[in-house]
Amino acid sequence: MEPMENIIESLADYGWCVVPGFLPEAETAALRVECLLPHAAGAFHAAGIGRGQARIRSEIRGDHVLWVEEIKAGPALRAMLERFETLRREVNQALFLGLLDLETHFAVYPPGGGYQRHLDRFRDDDRRSLTVILYLNEPDWSEEDGGQLRFWPDPDAAPLEIPPAGGTLVTFLSDRFWHEVLPANRQRLSLTGWFRRR
Ligand code: OGA
Ligand code: MN
Repeated sequence: MEPMENIIESLADYGWCVVPGFLPEAETAALRVECLLPHAAGAFHAAGIGRGQARIRSEIRGDHVLWVEEIKAGPALRAMLERFETLRREVNQALFLGLLDLETHFAVYPPGGGYQRHLDRFRDDDRRSLTVILYLNEPDWSEEDGGQLRFWPDPDAAPLEIPPAGGTLVTFLSDRFWHEVLPANRQRLSLTGWFRRR
């Protein structure tokens, strides 16, 4: 698959990659519904920080999450998890990262919610190796809606601001890149995961 090759090359050269339109809108819309139904049913919980996600600090992180193991995956989620599995195998073949499994959750940021600048690898758990974020927002998401991912390819240079357009896939080495979620003025949706090594 073409885009997979580009992702692998980008990860090899830079350690990060942004692919707008990775998932076609029809599939993004189906996945959005599979996120919003359990959300409407109250199945999400406030995201925590640190290992075990035990501490809730909404001033640091304002999203609500639903781990995919907690639900019976619908067809759109199953199809996306298969794509992630393809990515895992190809990354392992090309980059020898030894990625073993994926932990994934849907994330819903309410209006005004963000996530302060952080790295994805916890001090007490160094297994998270490759982060993947797939945005599930409506196609009419605009710049004024905010919610950009502020991403530092180089910690000493200006960050990028990546709009969370539905279907965009962002992937990066979890321990290397500082990033931050800017508050949005509407609900902001994603499927986010971390490939882990042993
Ligand atoms: C995270 C995170 C970024 C985003 O969940 O750790 O940084 O754009 N998410 O949702
Ligand atoms: Mn993060």
